[in-house]
Order: sequence, then C-alpha cells, then structure tokens
Amino acid sequence: MEWTEFYRERDYDRIAYLAGEEMPDLLERFFERTRVPETMLSVGCGPAVTEFAVAERHPETSVHGVDVSEDLMRDNRDLAADANVENLTFAVDTLPDLDTDGEYDLVYCVATLFFVKDVDRALESLWDRVAPGGHLVVSYPSSGTRRGALEMDEQSQAFFSLVVGEENLRTRADVESVLGVKTADFWAAVDAPDEPFVTFAPTVVVQKEQ
Ligand SMILES: C[S@@+](CC[C@H](N)C(=O)[O-])C[C@H]1O[C@@H](n2cnc3c(N)ncnc32)[C@H](O)[C@@H]1O
Repeated sequence: MEWTEFYRERDYDRIAYLAGEEMPDLLERFFERTRVPETMLSVGCGPAVTEFAVAERHPETSVHGVDVSEDLMRDNRDLAADANVENLTFAVDTLPDLDTDGEYDLVYCVATLFFVKDVDRALESLWDRVAPGGHLVVSYPSSGTRRGALEMDEQSQAFFSLVVGEENLRTRADVESVLGVKTADFWAAVDAPDEPFVTFAPTVVVQKEQ
C-alpha cells in the first residue's frame, strides 16, 4: 500500500512517527542550542504532531508542512483551523523534486527519505531550500533502517520495500558527499536517549554558510 492510500483508507493515528511523544521536545532542545527558526519547512510532515507543537510554542515562527498525501494535508489544515493555529500551513508536495519555493531557516525531513528512491536528488532539493545560515535536519535510510524494517510485520515492511531491497541505503559519508559539507549527528546534538530510533533513523544536522 502506498502512503496516499494509507491515509485515504485508514483511520490513521495522529502520531509523530519518529521518536513519538519525545520528538517535539527534542526539536525544542535543538532550538535552545541553536535558535528558534523564523521559518520552518517540514517535508513528509505526516500528521504533523511536531509541527503543531512548534507552531503553538512559537507563534512568531511560520511553519509549512508538505507531504505526498492530499487527504492528510486537508485533515492537517482542518485541524489547524479548528485549533486557531494561524502560523501553520500545509500543501501537497513530493520528493525528490519539490514545487515548494523559497528558503527556510529550518528544513526538517525526518523518517521520509526511507520511502524515496532517488535519495541524492531529494537531499539536493532539501538543501536548496535552506536559507543562508539556516539548518537542514534530515534522516536517511541506512543499514540500521533495514535491520529495523526486517523486524516489522509483513504489512509495515511493505512500506519499506526500497530499504529492504537495499535500493536506497546511504551512509553518513554518502550524505556529506551529496551536500558537499560535513554533518553533525542530530541525536547527539540534542542528547537523545539511547533508544532504537537512533539507529533505525540516523539523522544529521547541517548548517548552511551565511
Ligand atoms: C513515517 S511518516 C513520517 C511522518 C513525520 N515526518 C513524522 O516523523 O511523524 C513518512 C511520511 O512521508 C510521506 N512521504 C512518503 N513519500 C514521500 C515523498 N516522496 N514525498 C513527500 N512525502 C512523502 C508519507 O506520506 C508519510 O506521511
């Protein structure tokens, strides 16, 4: 099943897929250690639990979430309107190429490249949208992702076919070679607990030069 069908056909959970309830606080810790972005683009935002938290905690930050699923974007938009969250917008957009224009202080793309075949082109699209001095936080599909996927039930594993088939796996060195810059480990940067998501979803942070 594809993600678009998944959100259309299911009563899906409103969860942060990566790091669950901890993720909004981990990202908040990142802001404390760097700065609160004025603009944030989240690619593959899913049900946008972290994005809602950022928008509610930081009314001065404009948060824009995009995802491949039109149904999900409509649901997210309705939820933002119901909750009177005015600094949070949503649109349909699909990696590896993005229609979304502009440059953002933070481009955030977690637990999404697992489902993208052309990881390198996707990384370039994400990096292109980082403003000078801004940050990219991105998870990439790795051998650790594959080990985790192989432990999933058959239905969940089907979503990870590119990872399981070793079609889109990357190392941190690969990511650095595409971006042309050194990265830092996001989980270490925010003192994330030693939990399975750290190896399942290696995530790096990189800052663009001013
Ligand atoms: C595992 S969920 C992660 C959602 C969110 N980032 C989180 O951590 O809760 C993966 C999301 O990526 C979206 N997605 C999958 N392929 C995509 C693509 N090519 N472009 C944009 N979004 C995509 C899916 O619709 C899904 O919402």
